[in-house]
Amino acid sequence: QAPDVNAFLRHHIRTVPDWPAPGVQFRDITPLLQNPQVFHVLVDAFVHRYMGRDMRPDVVAGLDARGFIIGAVIAYQLKVGFVPIRKKGKLPFTTVEETYELEYGSATVELHADAVKPGDRVLVVDDLIATGGTMMAGKKLLEKLGATVMEGAAIVDLPELGGSQRLRDAGLPLFTLVDFS
Ligand code: PRP
Ligand code: ADE
Repeated sequence: QAPDVNAFLRHHIRTVPDWPAPGVQFRDITPLLQNPQVFHVLVDAFVHRYMGRDMRPDVVAGLDARGFIIGAVIAYQLKVGFVPIRKKGKLPFTTVEETYELEYGSATVELHADAVKPGDRVLVVDDLIATGGTMMAGKKLLEKLGATVMEGAAIVDLPELGGSQRLRDAGLPLFTLVDFS
């Protein structure tokens, strides 16, 4: 990502120490969304990348919950559909599910069984990659339904937690805007 966009966005991410647990440096993206100019720069950075013919996905999948905010806006701008990957127990129809470990705790996510079609090229969107467990679970769910995850996109990468490397090692290309070491 261009250094100026990186620095501009970084400046609007708030770090909250020891939340939600001691030792966690929580990278809070809400200030990015709150400021209309910054929100535009943020969304446009993703839309610019995925608008090109070779990079345009068939579907955008957003990860619960902060991935919904940014993923839905990207899908709208690209004029493609949006599907939510939700924490267990929220989706009403038949689902596929996957359990994974987080930086703090564990979780199970679900996806509606008809959310994507076999062969769909899907972009998975979240706000942040820490251990990579959430994004990996999303990739597995989409692949269970026969879709191809073309790329994972997130605002923030925490490279020291090893998640982005783990995802790349598993064959998932990643696009992130800001690194925090
Ligand atoms: C956070 C964040 C990512 C995930 C990243 O979500 O929004 O989805 O953790 O961590 P990982 O790379 O180690 O999986 P969280 O589960 O806290 O849920 P929320 O979006 O509902 O707050
Ligand atoms: N999700 C997992 N780890 C996180 C962190 N350090 N900041 C914000 N969201 C997170």
